[in-house]
Amino acid sequence: MSQLFDIGMVGLGVMGRNLLLNLADHGFRVIGLDTDPAKVEALKKEGNRASVDATTDAQAFLAAQRLPRAVILLVPAGKAVDAVIDELAPRLQPGDLLIDAGNSQFKDTDRRHRELAGKQLNFFGIGVSGGESGARHGPSMMPGGPKAAYDRVRPMLEAIAAKVNGEPCVAYVGSGSSGHYVKMVHNGIEYGIMQLLAEIYDLLRRGAGLTNPELAEVFERWNQGELNSFLIEITAKVFRKLDPKTGKHLVDVILDVARQKGTGKWTSQEAMDLQVPLLTIDAAVAMRDMSAYDAERVRANQRFGVSVMPLDGDRARFLEQARNALSCATLLTYAQGFAMLRKASTTYDFGLDLASVAAIWRGGCIIRAAVLEKFRAAFTAQPDLPNLLLDEAVAKTVLGCEGDLRVVVKSAIDFGIPVAGLMNALAYFDAYRTARLPTNLTQAQRDFFGAHTFERIDEAGKFHANWEGPD
Ligand code: 6PG
Repeated sequence: MSQLFDIGMVGLGVMGRNLLLNLADHGFRVIGLDTDPAKVEALKKEGNRASVDATTDAQAFLAAQRLPRAVILLVPAGKAVDAVIDELAPRLQPGDLLIDAGNSQFKDTDRRHRELAGKQLNFFGIGVSGGESGARHGPSMMPGGPKAAYDRVRPMLEAIAAKVNGEPCVAYVGSGSSGHYVKMVHNGIEYGIMQLLAEIYDLLRRGAGLTNPELAEVFERWNQGELNSFLIEITAKVFRKLDPKTGKHLVDVILDVARQKGTGKWTSQEAMDLQVPLLTIDAAVAMRDMSAYDAERVRANQRFGVSVMPLDGDRARFLEQARNALSCATLLTYAQGFAMLRKASTTYDFGLDLASVAAIWRGGCIIRAAVLEKFRAAFTAQPDLPNLLLDEAVAKTVLGCEGDLRVVVKSAIDFGIPVAGLMNALAYFDAYRTARLPTNLTQAQRDFFGAHTFERIDEAGKFHANWEGPD
């Protein structure tokens, strides 16, 4: 071996292989490790240069790297990460650095950090978004953990990250497991927006009768304006794609059961623990679950029939309303995600800089969108802003589209089309701007049946009423 490698990559699946090649393209010498000889051979063939190598032998992999080592793990979240750490840790030297770049549960990241710190090994978690093409040509990356450890690999990560106006879509997000936490919330937002897109698709197709080519045109047009984003762009492309097998539009032959790896569910579960309202994302997770009951849905369809009442009005006007409704609900979904990050930052002492999170989500990741520039500006102007809805410019945008969100939700009710995401986005907005919610009644009931006490609007303290007896 003439020269030692700058960095190692464990896991040569789709993400690992592409990230490794991306590093090599930027002048870094990278060695890969995988238990599958076919993956090792495939990488050697594809890499085909002196700065790229791969092996199935952990010892040889470690011996080929310069010290202190930096090793990225890109293996499936869960047990596989622990298995790799268990194999490598005893062979590493104090000061070596392990970077978990998978979609790990943030609590696992905390545990691994504690365990490895005991062995004088550095460890941090990094959220990586952008799928296969992002990994190869520029992902968005969310590193969190010990800052000094991040600084060691910072030049490499900045080199391979997506760029927006020359700025790399990677920045240190905070301490502890914050990198994986931020990525989890990214995925929660991803679930929310994808659900909103599915509902708009349903409204335009079953409600307004648009064909696939018409849907493609609409989404292409929307992508030119305020809604400009990766998810809108790929949605337009989906509607154009034909199935080579049947010649039909591919989207029409895809089974309607949505699978999930779990990061959206984790976001909702974690939000409940943190006591943060996350209405749109909760609805998105629930609708993926609903989609899995396909056999029962067919039976229920036979029992209740189809009750869709198509649009009876101006189609062009409805399309405009649908676009505004989608913009509004999307913005409200981001607002929920950022509010969750705000709460998490205090609860876990992450020290998150939300302006920087908004900045690194502008490019490379699945939820990249033009609107993130507005969010970055909001958090830059007010770093402690608790909720994007309290920012003047964001509020103005919401006020400009919430009327159409209301109209579209009402139309969906008339059509008989389920829009749990849109409805919950609207409910979030309506609840958040309600100075006095009806939860005074909840408190009265809790005190009535359980003597749980209540607080009063005119006097401090806890009170209990004798609800059925004399005053
Ligand atoms: C990304 C994606 C990526 C992955 C999701 C899919 O940011 O690049 O979020 O992480 O595609 O985990 O998640 P589901 O399988 O749960 O839909």
